[in-house]
Amino acid sequence: MRSIVCTRIAGALLLVYSTIVAAARAQSAVAVRGAPELESKRGVVACVERRAAEIGAAVLAEGGNAVDAAVAVAFALAVTYPEAGNLGGGGFMLVALADGRTAAIDYRETAPRRADERLFLDANGAVDSQRREFGHHAVGVPGTVAGLAEAHRLFGTRPWTELVAPARRLAADGLVVQPALAAGLAEYAVDLARFAASRAQFLHADGTPYDVGETLVQADLANTLRWIEEGGAAPFYDGPIAALIAAEMAHAGALLDARDFAAYRPVVRDVLVARFRGHELLLMPPPSSGGIALAQMLALLEPFALRERGGFDASARHLFAESSRRAFADRAQWLGDPEATAIPVEQLLSEAHLAPRRASIEPERASASAEFGPPVTETDAGATTHFSIIDGAGNAVANTYTIEERFGSKLIAPGTGFLLNNELQDFNPKPGRTTRDGQIGTAANLARGGRRPLSSMTPCIVRRDGEVVLVTGSPGGRTIISTVTQIVLDVLEFETPLAAAVARPRQHHGWFPDQIGIEQAFDPATAEALRRLGHVVQLRTRQGDAHSIERDPASGRLHGVADRRTEGWCAAPTGE
Ligand code: GLY
Repeated sequence: MRSIVCTRIAGALLLVYSTIVAAARAQSAVAVRGAPELESKRGVVACVERRAAEIGAAVLAEGGNAVDAAVAVAFALAVTYPEAGNLGGGGFMLVALADGRTAAIDYRETAPRRADERLFLDANGAVDSQRREFGHHAVGVPGTVAGLAEAHRLFGTRPWTELVAPARRLAADGLVVQPALAAGLAEYAVDLARFAASRAQFLHADGTPYDVGETLVQADLANTLRWIEEGGAAPFYDGPIAALIAAEMAHAGALLDARDFAAYRPVVRDVLVARFRGHELLLMPPPSSGGIALAQMLALLEPFALRERGGFDASARHLFAESSRRAFADRAQWLGDPEATAIPVEQLLSEAHLAPRRASIEPERASASAEFGPPVTETDAGATTHFSIIDGAGNAVANTYTIEERFGSKLIAPGTGFLLNNELQDFNPKPGRTTRDGQIGTAANLARGGRRPLSSMTPCIVRRDGEVVLVTGSPGGRTIISTVTQIVLDVLEFETPLAAAVARPRQHHGWFPDQIGIEQAFDPATAEALRRLGHVVQLRTRQGDAHSIERDPASGRLHGVADRRTEGWCAAPTGE
């Protein structure tokens, strides 16, 4: 007890000290302001964690563009939000510049070249869930550092070192632990303790996790960030960081090796473009399933003229669930890594494909998932995080990146200081086995050497008349697609103010399990109305974390909205 009290007092003193240090630094540095919701004409960063948002806003204040800020925020989140912010994972960055250029940067992880579809099957052909979830065998080649370097090479305007250094300093000087991080560490302390370097980084010598107000110094991470600051992506893929991870993998008998790191490349893809109510939606193509699914859902819904039928009520929610059911069935059947799987993108988005599916939707009755998709849940605890940035010139970034589960594989390779993903879990676990509880076994997304697992990450930028008006995205596994679609639908169809659209209780229907998951704050009468239409309605605690920004093209004014389901924060350069 005494040591806990001492720790708490020491923590409180450290908090005071650290606050003073931070304030002193802030005064000597560029001034930024922040709030969960704010307006600015000079640029806004909306993300899950306050210090990362401030680092991004400082880059904007110093003249950096949205991509510069995105690179700095992504590195900072790897320090301040280790449950999902990462160097050891991968993701997607959508860029829309004010001059009209767009890009979809795919920095998804890849499977080791020696992997095959039996990656997670034991000798009896059963799925080995421990191997899928924890440690070495679940790790794909991380793409984050290569993706950020590529974004910077293509669109950055500030020196790379300036964008990495703030994160490196935070890791070296230490970070005062906030409630969200403390809660995450406490929840995952037992899992993190399985691996020596993870234990040493996130837990005290006695095995207790860092508590609120204590200072977490991440010395190995600071060293890794220094390598990256000085050498770009090379030390990560063809240098000491790859070597440290490869040594750890070899020690554990895992497939990932230095050649897999050397072979890794991010891919710059054409943005997937969809249209809805006079807007142009910029979306991520495969290996994201989110772009196609969102576009399908909105295309299915548009002719129903939901707004004229009333608000975002039980009837609209029913139609939304029915469109989700159909889009997720296609997702299960068709989507995977586009380099390895023939994906009929145009056909999936065509009226020829969608019209009969729309016609099968009955406004007064739930259909059955078994009528759609391949013959026949998910956990929504994914460790993904999304941030949105628009700068004062109207350049926009929607970035969603992930290490798959919270704290990823829980594994830190000794000497590297960052958690490795367990993204290979996103491959279909067992060929041929598609079940009513949501497990998918179709060929489109089976593990093979070098393949990217199918993702649900759905960064989204909306333009009207060529100008960015909305940036959004979310974590949440397959529910990401539902969260982002709901927000876009809410804002564009119902013209709901962004803050209300982000706050509105969410739903998810993922084909199988054949049910609508609803957040606890969901209106009980609406839930009951959905049940009466024949839906199974299942309560879940929360869904998604959608830090979003809208922009008024006439005035250039930005309105950032952090999702209050977490400790999300918006930051902007000081001034109007
Ligand atoms: N790991 C979550 C996703 O990519 O969908």
